[in-house]
Amino acid sequence: MNDVSEIIETLYRGDGGALSADDIASFLDECESGDYDEALAARAREVREPIYGNRVYVRGLIEISNICKNDCLYCGIRRSNRNCIRYRLDEDTIISCADEGYELGFRTFVLQGGEDAYYTDDVMCSIISRIKSSHPDCAVTLSLGERSRDSYRRMRSAGADRYLLRHETANPDHYAQLHPASMSYENRIQCLYTLRELGYQVGCGFMVGSPYQTNRHIANDLCFIRDFYPAMCGIGPFVPHHETPFASFPSGTVEKTCRLLSIIRLLCPHVLLPATTALGTIHPRGREMGILAGANVVMPNLSPVGVRKQYELYDNKICTGEESAQCRDCLELRIRSVGCEIVTDRGDVKK
Ligand code: 5AD
Ligand code: FES
Repeated sequence: MNDVSEIIETLYRGDGGALSADDIASFLDECESGDYDEALAARAREVREPIYGNRVYVRGLIEISNICKNDCLYCGIRRSNRNCIRYRLDEDTIISCADEGYELGFRTFVLQGGEDAYYTDDVMCSIISRIKSSHPDCAVTLSLGERSRDSYRRMRSAGADRYLLRHETANPDHYAQLHPASMSYENRIQCLYTLRELGYQVGCGFMVGSPYQTNRHIANDLCFIRDFYPAMCGIGPFVPHHETPFASFPSGTVEKTCRLLSIIRLLCPHVLLPATTALGTIHPRGREMGILAGANVVMPNLSPVGVRKQYELYDNKICTGEESAQCRDCLELRIRSVGCEIVTDRGDVKK
């Protein structure tokens, strides 16, 4: 047995904790050929099977605002993009999206947006408690970036169950290459620990193929994920946006994203792992390939069709013209095509 097969077996046995970042970095180098992707995906599916079976969880994504005070270099809705047509949804519109989603069978709503000061704690708490009181059987997930501990605490008390905050990269120097000096890696990570302490189910994650990223960086991301053991982990390819400083960097690849989905499934068997819209954007069957690699969550878009194109984090984003019902049906067919089944319950992490 060569080193690579041994590492795959180590991961499969649940002994990924024994691997150093160096081991993982050289493993990732060896995997670049693609020769081991099938074996990794098969092992990932085997590990997923007793926990989640063939069930894939759906989360209704509501993109509440593309106004953002941050200026992340990769992101199409960064503050410096003057050509972005800005919007924000008011409270009643967000509630109607959730109500429509409920009728379509969704039991988890993800409220995602830029860091927009309009959504004060009072506004957010009101939205969260209205959704929770009309749909007590639903989970509310927030993805609103970095806020204060007190803000996270208040939103949690109002009923928010989960929080997605990608760590973006577990390397301070790489973090600084992707973000303006006003943002700090330390604060990002601190937010994740605070959220966990407040009782949220927490999601972290990163982009595959982001500018300047090396396998050593990714190895550190994987060690961070293994050790933090998030309830959810969002990874998708970096896709350039034409109005950003990273416009001419290449996209991440489907192959590498799927490979990393498999490795994350092996490192954290219980993690809720989405096959992301970005993965569906770079390949027509990207999300299906993600599910086959070990993902078990999809996030159809419930945002009002009128604003969807404006929530453009990267170029050519899919699902921007479809109604919510179309998106749900489309994804359901896609999931079935790979032998899995959509489930609509809250889909809490199994522990
Ligand atoms: N390509 C892929 N993903 C992106 N994100 C932001 N910009 C891009 C891009 N150009 C991701 C970030 C962020 C999440 C909401 O979207 O990882 O955390
Ligand atoms: Fe949105 Fe296919 S999932 S159109």
